[in-house]
Amino acid sequence: MNRLLVTGGAGFIGSNFVHHVIEHTDATVTVLDKLTYAASRESLAVLPDDRVSLVVGDVADAAVVGPLVAEHDAVVHFAAESHNDNSLNDPSPFVQTNLIGTFTILEAVRKAGTRLHHISTDEVYGDLELDAPERFTEATPYNPSSPYSSTKAGSDLLVRAWVRSFGVQATISNCSNNYGPWQHIEKFIPRQITNVIDGGRPKLYGAGLNVRDWIHADDHSSAVLRILQQGRIGETYLVGADGEQNNLDVVRMILRHFGRPEDDFDHVNDRAGHDLRYAIDSTKLRTELGWEPRFSDFEKGLADTIQWYVDHEAWWRPHKDTVEATYAAQGQ
Ligand code: NAD
Ligand code: TYD
Repeated sequence: MNRLLVTGGAGFIGSNFVHHVIEHTDATVTVLDKLTYAASRESLAVLPDDRVSLVVGDVADAAVVGPLVAEHDAVVHFAAESHNDNSLNDPSPFVQTNLIGTFTILEAVRKAGTRLHHISTDEVYGDLELDAPERFTEATPYNPSSPYSSTKAGSDLLVRAWVRSFGVQATISNCSNNYGPWQHIEKFIPRQITNVIDGGRPKLYGAGLNVRDWIHADDHSSAVLRILQQGRIGETYLVGADGEQNNLDVVRMILRHFGRPEDDFDHVNDRAGHDLRYAIDSTKLRTELGWEPRFSDFEKGLADTIQWYVDHEAWWRPHKDTVEATYAAQGQ
């Protein structure tokens, strides 16, 4: 697999994966990205021109996707609309990119016989009770809650059907919540970090007791590369690093890091249909493919991420007012 096509490679996790591939393989990478509000060319800027190129285009555009897919050995499909809150305000681009975009990729890999790895989320499984011992496994039934998670669930089901009906050579991974550098400041952790840098208060939805299972984006990337190289065709692998934290505790860690009182935050309007808890059992990935996460200490990984946002204010500053105005209009 020397020529990789990475869709959504200018986004938070896709760009991390491109860096990972350049560092750990000899492959060349073409990024196909529409450069939506969530993309960042800067995240790819330091990569070598002779190994990474960018095609600006839409994954739902068959005329762009077909020829590109045919020129590559494998496609890693990250491109998506990815933010739950946006999907509640306007589901339309979620249906278009996550469903029609994935359908378009599938038709192209079917025609060209190209290997596909499809990136998805644990949110397709719905949510778990707060204090239950259960975690998601590959056998958990799909039960998505939001327009975002339902379109991701639909995209997974399309991939499964194309494997079974047409023999498409695909694998799927469903990962838990990622954190790390280059994450858009609309998302929970970067929003709270940048609020505190600005001297403001973190904003917790509802009581703040919802639990997310945090994994560093570097660990997600190493898992995806492992599955691409060694995963069994037609299989789904759950990716997680045993990082369960409730939102309140994460906000307290961020405040503590900056030397601010731990109760210096605001409770704001809760999210409609807010999933209570996500938790991943990644035994299959670990035992079958020998993958292990590198970041086992969440508070340490969070501290590195905080420092990154302190050091990269010029990157996020131009977006801060717009993001906060959108949230303020929702009472969040
Ligand atoms: P992101 O929003 O940061 O980046 C998405 C990228 O896709 C952007 O560069 C954007 O320009 C591009 N894109 C959007 N629509 C496109 C289109 N129609 N055609 C081409 N490019 C398009 O998202 P992310 O957080 O990096 O997530 C990447 C993938 O990982 C998504 O599939 C998401 O569902 C999945 N995922 C994310 C998380 C998480 O915590 N962020 C967890 C598990 C899975
Ligand atoms: P988010 O980063 O949007 O990821 P997801 O919805 O995919 O889990 O949110 C993570 C958690 O943080 C989720 O429980 C919602 C909550 N949250 C807040 O409490 N405050 C905020 O300002 C945001 C953006 C999210």
